[in-house]
Amino acid sequence: MQSKRSRVLVKFSGEALAGENGFGIDTKILGFIASEIRSLVENKIEVGIVIGGGNIIRGVSAAQDGVIRRTSADYMGMLATVINAVAMQEALEHAGLDVRVQSAIELKEICESYIYRRAIRHLEKGRVVIFGAGTGNPFFTTDTAATLRAIEIGANMIIKATKVDGVYDKDPNKFSDAKKLDTLSYEEALDDRIKVMDDTAIALAKDNRLPIVVCNMFKAGNLLKIIQGDNGLCSVVGQRQ
Ligand code: GTP
Repeated sequence: MQSKRSRVLVKFSGEALAGENGFGIDTKILGFIASEIRSLVENKIEVGIVIGGGNIIRGVSAAQDGVIRRTSADYMGMLATVINAVAMQEALEHAGLDVRVQSAIELKEICESYIYRRAIRHLEKGRVVIFGAGTGNPFFTTDTAATLRAIEIGANMIIKATKVDGVYDKDPNKFSDAKKLDTLSYEEALDDRIKVMDDTAIALAKDNRLPIVVCNMFKAGNLLKIIQGDNGLCSVVGQRQ
């Protein structure tokens, strides 16, 4: 009997790539992520990746004082995600993986353009596909882009890789009695105090019954264990398929 195909979309924040510097790209972190992704591919898991751009520029902050208009600032942010995607491509190739970067905005000297059917073929061939430039539109976050791509490629789940091991009922850095929530409904995830992702991303996941898994990306082996079914290491929004 053929086992059920496993395909996931992993979303990393741009800030995570910055390491202790707080900005730019720390190649040690890239290397760590690459080895985590390699363990997924070695276990026949098909992997799509979306990376934010906050380590380089954030659209909302760049537009804060009104000098740069929000639309332009968001396009600048989209370009930042392509910088991160190209860096991640290098790290994954360095780790021995086959990788393709597909951008939502045409940048043909740098990478492929996003073509849904081509992305699927890459994944089927065991290549990691990194989706750059967000949704290609301003006023959307990379969480929304990641959710959109996860749904398009038919991923079993979107994994939001963070610095914490899940979603808490209140800020665990401020409250010692904060409790980790193992499972949440989409409605709970929309709660302002919890805010797993922005409303657009959660609504999209809800409408398409895409489970959102929040986990700590900095613990070696976590991603694989979670995908293989260990729910203790993460919080799950919606029902795992
Ligand atoms: P198959 O058709 O499955 O063999 O996929 P492939 O991606 O290996 O083949 P292709 O010949 O389409 O691409 C070869 C290389 O060129 C890959 O590294 C692609 O990422 C890259 N490539 C393809 N299209 C573009 C593009 O429009 N711009 C850039 N910069 N690179 C591209």
